[in-house]
Amino acid sequence: MTQQATDVRAMFGRIAPRYDSANRAMSMGIDILWRKKAMKPLLAGLGDRSRVLDLGAGTLDGAREILRRRPDAFVAAADFATQMLRVGRAKLGPTDDHLGTHTADGHRLPYGTGVFDAAFSAFCVRNLGDLPVALRELRRVVRPGGTIVILEFFRPKAQRLFLDRFYNARVLPLIGWAITGDRDAYRYLPASIARFLSRAEFESALRAAGFATAEGTDLFPGGMASLVVAR
Ligand SMILES: C[S@@+](CC[C@H](N)C(=O)[O-])C[C@H]1O[C@@H](n2cnc3c(N)ncnc32)[C@H](O)[C@@H]1O
Repeated sequence: MTQQATDVRAMFGRIAPRYDSANRAMSMGIDILWRKKAMKPLLAGLGDRSRVLDLGAGTLDGAREILRRRPDAFVAAADFATQMLRVGRAKLGPTDDHLGTHTADGHRLPYGTGVFDAAFSAFCVRNLGDLPVALRELRRVVRPGGTIVILEFFRPKAQRLFLDRFYNARVLPLIGWAITGDRDAYRYLPASIARFLSRAEFESALRAAGFATAEGTDLFPGGMASLVVAR
């Protein structure tokens, strides 16, 4: 694992206990709506007892939403920060036995080829050290024709005055610091968005990794987060 990956994993480990509270405060709860919005393309056409991967599952909000809508599905929640998964497991009820958590690196997933019918990943791909390798790995573990839904903050076409220069650069680190005590982690967020791919570049990266189609849409408000659906 590279030093950058080790640092990112340690950062999520540090903020794990307060991650959910910081998310809710920074997005004013809209992150919950974004995950719900992702469910429609993810679950459309899935058969009974489907197997779904949540990559970078963190504190399990996405994985739990999948099971809330499709209790017959089996969800594998993979994340390389064990502390994030541990916080998520504390939110599970006794009947959540269709959800397995696995400490795993997105560049080398511990799953067989084509074992999943679909995959979801929210706010994880921006953190991956070697995106082409990780996207090929995602392609490998999902069966041909299976749907992949990515929810992410992509690099904007141009810096937006309010969102990028004021809210993301100044307000987010302050809120994140106030809630988690870790200002660096929330400076990392806008910095990682600024150096990540644009949505169009990411769609090209998916096609280069072997997906036949990749199509994105911006979510309200103002293209802050986007959904990309690939098959
Ligand atoms: C911003 S959090 C998102 C968590 C969750 N998906 C959500 O929507 O709240 C990003 C997650 O991706 C995980 N992650 C980053 N790089 C990873 C990698 N190479 N392999 C596995 N997980 C990774 C982090 O540990 C972290 O839990």
